[in-house]
Amino acid sequence: MKHAWIAIMAGLAASAAAPLEEVPWPEGYRAWTHVKSAYLGPGHPAAPKYEGLHSIYANAPAMQGYRTGRFPVGAVIAYDQLDATVAATGIEPAARKFVDVMRKGPDGWVFGEYSADGKTRLVTAAQGVKQCAGCHARPGTQDGVFSRYGE
Ligand code: HEC
Repeated sequence: MKHAWIAIMAGLAASAAAPLEEVPWPEGYRAWTHVKSAYLGPGHPAAPKYEGLHSIYANAPAMQGYRTGRFPVGAVIAYDQLDATVAATGIEPAARKFVDVMRKGPDGWVFGEYSADGKTRLVTAAQGVKQCAGCHARPGTQDGVFSRYGE
């Protein structure tokens, strides 16, 4: 009996310490479904980090989530952040700043952030728990997702 308890406690300790699986660079996301784009100006509370033009792309499982409100395991959403050139005549996309990504795993959303070329991970899964997950758990999201897909 004693041995069984030790095994259970060891199992619990191991699962608590298990590192989150990193969200990989969303290869090919520019060919996924375009959910929306928006421009945030310098007066937005999310500036300066999110100032500019962003577009959101969803893979096929994530599109199922946008349609049903429940995102299945394997859903990946990319948030493509670009600079923008703003003039009285219009807004043009400029250089990519970074790409935010979230992937639904068996235990919920895992977050990550990559440099514009996809080569450097700027936010790890563990950092994402602190930097991203709290805001995405706010009321008003659909299963942790803010954006809506206009059919
Ligand atoms: C203060 C709140 C806040 C924080 C912190 C935040 N986000 Fe978001 N995120 C948003 C909002 C609001 C949107 C919707 C933007 C839109 O609709 O154009 C969004 C959109 C997204 C999307 C597209 C899916 C969706 O929910 O619409 C991804 C992917 C994403 N964020 C990843 C991240 C990552 C990665 C981090 C951490 C590095 C992060 N977010 C931190 C508020 C936040």
